[in-house]
Amino acid sequence: MSPPRYVRLGVNVDHVATLRQARGTRYPDPVHGAAIAESAGADQITIHLREDRRHIIDRDLEVMRRTVQVPLNLEMAATDEMVRIALANRPDTVTLVPERREERTTEGGLDVAGQRAALLPHVQALRDAGIVVSLFIDADEAQVAAAAQIGAAVVELHTGDYCEAGTPSLRARELQKLHDGAIAAHELGLVVAAGHGLDLRNVGDVARLPHVEELNIGHSIIARAVFIGLDAAVREMRTAIAEAVR
Ligand code: PXP
Repeated sequence: MSPPRYVRLGVNVDHVATLRQARGTRYPDPVHGAAIAESAGADQITIHLREDRRHIIDRDLEVMRRTVQVPLNLEMAATDEMVRIALANRPDTVTLVPERREERTTEGGLDVAGQRAALLPHVQALRDAGIVVSLFIDADEAQVAAAAQIGAAVVELHTGDYCEAGTPSLRARELQKLHDGAIAAHELGLVVAAGHGLDLRNVGDVARLPHVEELNIGHSIIARAVFIGLDAAVREMRTAIAEAVR
């Protein structure tokens, strides 16, 4: 009998910081959020240090590096400034994401196939420092192949289009793309993660995709925490994932 599958949950605490930044107060503190998420069963803490510092700020990363005990995953743009910050703080994983100042959240995956030459030195610098490099990409064969080629260890498949699909047929088509992308990535030796837009209703199908080892979830958990508390919201998502792959 094969052992039960375990899919890790990375809890993204950016939106605890969004609430803080909305008023320029010192609370709620995402560092506190990370501690609660960790004690509720998060397997990883994920934060996105954006160029405009709209939610997570440098201090949050610095303090979390010293306090978070599960792996810390830093999402960031592939820029010299961000690589310098990553090398100074040494998160366990860096996930390179595309970033445009005017977007509401990360829209679309990183164009690794089109930006190989620009990304390669950043990936190498991070790897040389012992940081695991993940690339946030669309589930597209060319992007998966390019990610493997430039030395990423992990790909995080962008689930946004699947989560936003308005009809059952569109949803099935997007899920099939994620399925094929996960298989292609695994065949090239990449660890497969997924994320963006996942909530209690849509997480099961993604958790059940072959080879998916990790899900990074933020907005829906923090939104749920407003009503039931963060500890309960993390536990609820952990249970939903565990039941989906049981
Ligand atoms: N994974 C990546 C790479 C992201 O950029 C984000 C959003 O910051 C997430 C996961 C989490 O997405 P959501 O907040 O929609 O759950």
